[in-house]
Amino acid sequence: MRILVTGGAGYIGSVTTEMLLDAGHEVTVFDNFERGHRSAIDVRANVEEGDLRNRTRIAEAMAVIKPDAVMHFAAYALVGESMEVPETYFQNNLVGGLNLVDAMLVSGCKKIVFSSTCATYGQPDRVPITEEEMQKPENPYGESKLALEKALRWYEELRGIKAVFLRYFNACGATAKFGEDHDPETHLIPIILQVALGKREEVQIFGDDYETPDGTCLRDYIHIVDLSRAHILALTGDHSGPFNLGNGTGYSVKDVIETARRVTGHPIPARVAARRPGDPARLIASAQKAHDVLGWRPGLDDLESIIKSAWDWHQEHPEGYGD
Ligand code: UFG
Repeated sequence: MRILVTGGAGYIGSVTTEMLLDAGHEVTVFDNFERGHRSAIDVRANVEEGDLRNRTRIAEAMAVIKPDAVMHFAAYALVGESMEVPETYFQNNLVGGLNLVDAMLVSGCKKIVFSSTCATYGQPDRVPITEEEMQKPENPYGESKLALEKALRWYEELRGIKAVFLRYFNACGATAKFGEDHDPETHLIPIILQVALGKREEVQIFGDDYETPDGTCLRDYIHIVDLSRAHILALTGDHSGPFNLGNGTGYSVKDVIETARRVTGHPIPARVAARRPGDPARLIASAQKAHDVLGWRPGLDDLESIIKSAWDWHQEHPEGYGD
């Protein structure tokens, strides 16, 4: 198939681009390179530089590429930042997303696989979280993703666009070529690995007084290769609607630090600090629907191998992509 990948220079988009190309698809990456990295794009992909907030630009690109399907990764994705500059999040994630879908309508493209998030659930009433859980986001990032999900439901019902929403839990890990390089970095695993590389003194544990077995937050860490596989499964067939993507196991912040100490052989000093506002105590997926409907089975589900893959990449790329 001919696939347009928005945000293909970003963390998950880069790996999915690589896997789509390996599977024999033709891929064009559309990216504004504001947060993504040119060297994160597989050399076999075509590249269109542009910003989704520019309606004309995405419409032009869509008319040239005429994709069979779109994979939509391009977005701002920092919860904390979204609380500071909500309008920026709604402009990029919602307005940009709507511009993309409008361009699809004009060009006749009828399938989109959209990167959504467990942040659309907010504080869940129960874990593991199923797709039926009430969605009540607690920050503009989650709200902007939910708003586009809602719009896409109507585009499906009234305009015939099949829309799959993949609600990621905590994306992590790396392939031999592509890994995580955010500036600033806020995610737990890369921060821990920066300590192991000697680039930070210590990792702060944001709160150890949660109602969890060791008092630190539980998260469901899912390898980006498994996430990418789910995208490719979602592309084929007649699939639409939401799917949670996680391993179904919750690891605490302390578990992650301990595992990283074993993997890296580095002591990784850690210090308990205040809670980070907005952090739910537990975010753990039920991915039963993705198993049953998409036939998706995460294969890289133990924390040690996930962290090992990220550690290998960070050692090879101590300065990230360097651009
Ligand atoms: N944490 C620390 N110290 C740090 C960084 C993080 O203790 O220096 C803790 C956080 O408090 C949290 C856990 O580690 O309990 C994981 O934090 P991350 O920032 O790595 O990930 P989040 O769970 O906050 O965020 C993830 C995705 C978001 C998504 C969100 C949903 O990265 O895109 O889940 O809540 F929106």
